[in-house]
Amino acid sequence: MGCELLRRPLKLLPFSNHGTDGNQAVKVQIDSGRCQGHGRCYDLVPGLFGDDDEGYGKVLGDGAVPPGQERQARLAVANCPERAIDLLEEV
Ligand code: F3S
Repeated sequence: MGCELLRRPLKLLPFSNHGTDGNQAVKVQIDSGRCQGHGRCYDLVPGLFGDDDEGYGKVLGDGAVPPGQERQARLAVANCPERAIDLLEEV
């Protein structure tokens, strides 16, 4: 099922978009080229983000946001000073 999701096209959501209601498949991803290891993502939302051995952020699992946690994902997006976190919605 997770592999099926990855094959479908995804679109990038602006973090200010509040159009989803938690019923659509949403994923987070971190751009490792932009992440500077500020750690706000895993401090604020430890259920979705963790850190690697050098303190850089990483998504947990495949980055799928469980139902009801989209708001927390957006919180992490909004608080990353490097804008390194993207929120993707299945289309
Ligand atoms: Fe990196 Fe931003 Fe998190 S810089 S550690 S993705 S808050």
